[in-house]
Amino acid sequence: MQKIILDTDPGVDDTMAIAYALAHPDIELLALTTVFGNINIDFATRNAQYVLDVMGADSVAVARGASLPSVQSPLPHADFVHGADGLGDVYPGSQPGKPAADATQLRADTRHSQVDSKDAADFIVDAAHQHPGEITLVAVGPLTNIAEAYRREPELPSLVAGLVIMGGTVDEPGNVSPVAEANFLNDPHAADRLFAAHWPATVVGLDVTHRIMLTDSHLKSLDHNGGHSGSLIWQSSRFYVDFYTRSGAARDAADRGDEPQCAMHDAAAIAYLVMPDAFTIESGPARVIGEGIAIGQLALDRKGYAYSVPHWQNRPTTHVCMAVDAERVRQDFLQTIINYHQK
Ligand code: BDR
Ligand code: CA
Repeated sequence: MQKIILDTDPGVDDTMAIAYALAHPDIELLALTTVFGNINIDFATRNAQYVLDVMGADSVAVARGASLPSVQSPLPHADFVHGADGLGDVYPGSQPGKPAADATQLRADTRHSQVDSKDAADFIVDAAHQHPGEITLVAVGPLTNIAEAYRREPELPSLVAGLVIMGGTVDEPGNVSPVAEANFLNDPHAADRLFAAHWPATVVGLDVTHRIMLTDSHLKSLDHNGGHSGSLIWQSSRFYVDFYTRSGAARDAADRGDEPQCAMHDAAAIAYLVMPDAFTIESGPARVIGEGIAIGQLALDRKGYAYSVPHWQNRPTTHVCMAVDAERVRQDFLQTIINYHQK
C-alpha cells in the first residue's frame, strides 16, 4: 500500500483523481489538502468534503491550504472550465454558471463537517514526521502548499517517499498560454522552488495528460457501473466536457464528428503511482519560468549539458513523463472505479 496525501483544487478532474485513489487497492489516501486554483479556497475545501462524502470516504482528513499564490498576484479562477462551484455546478439546485449557494452555506449540510485544525502545510509536515519515508505527496493543483510545507520543514524531501506533480508541459502546447500549463502558471515560483529540492520528483504534465482522453461513453460507463463516485464524475463532467468540445484537440475531434471528450489530467498522476511502467520518462534539471512572456513554462534540460549560466547550476534531477500507454491507463482508471463499486 502506498500512503498518499493528495494536494488538490477540486475541480472536475481532481474529482476523478480522488475517486481513482479511493478505489485503488494499492493506495491508502490519508488526506486531501486543498489549495486555490480551479476555484477559490472556500469552494476547494467545501468540494473536497463534498466529494469525500458522496464517495463514502468521510474518514479521509481534509486540511485547508493556501488562498493565494506564494509570490505573484492571483489569476482568475477557471470557472469557465470547471463551473462556478468548481464541480461543474453539481450541487443540488445549481444551474450552469449559478451555484446553488455560497461555500459557507454549503458547509452546513455536509456530514464531513470537520476540517483539520492544522493548515495544509502543517498537516503535510506533521504527517511526514509521523510516517517517515512512507508518504508520497501527489500535487494536482498549484504548488503553493507543498512549497510552503518545504519552507517550514527543509527536510521534507527526505521525509517523504516522493513527490508526483500534475503540471507543466515540455513539448505539448500549454493550456493557458502556448508554453504554460494552468497549475504551474497559478504559482510558478512555488513550482520552481520545488525543483531545486532533492526529492524523487516526477512531473505528469500535458505531454501525457493530453493523450489520455475520456469520451462520453467512458464517462457513461462510470455513471452506470461506478456507484456514487461514477455518477458524481458523470454529472460534474457535463460542464467540463462542454468546455473541451469548444477548445483544442477535443474541439477538432468534435468537428470531425467524434464523441465529446475531455482530459483526465489529475487522475493520470494517480495512474503514474500505480503503473509507472506505462509512462516513458525523460530526466534532467528543471525550472519554471517566473515572469515575462514565458511565465509558467516548464524548462527541462534533457541533454544533461553542463550549462554555465547560474540558473542551471546545481539543480537536482526531475523526472518528466513524456509518453504514455494511454489505453492501459484509461482502462485501469475505469475498471478500478467500477470494480471497487461492484465489490
Ligand atoms: C490542471 O489544471 C486544472 O484546471 C486541472 O484540475 C488540472 O490540475 C490541468 O492543467
Ligand atoms: Ca487540479
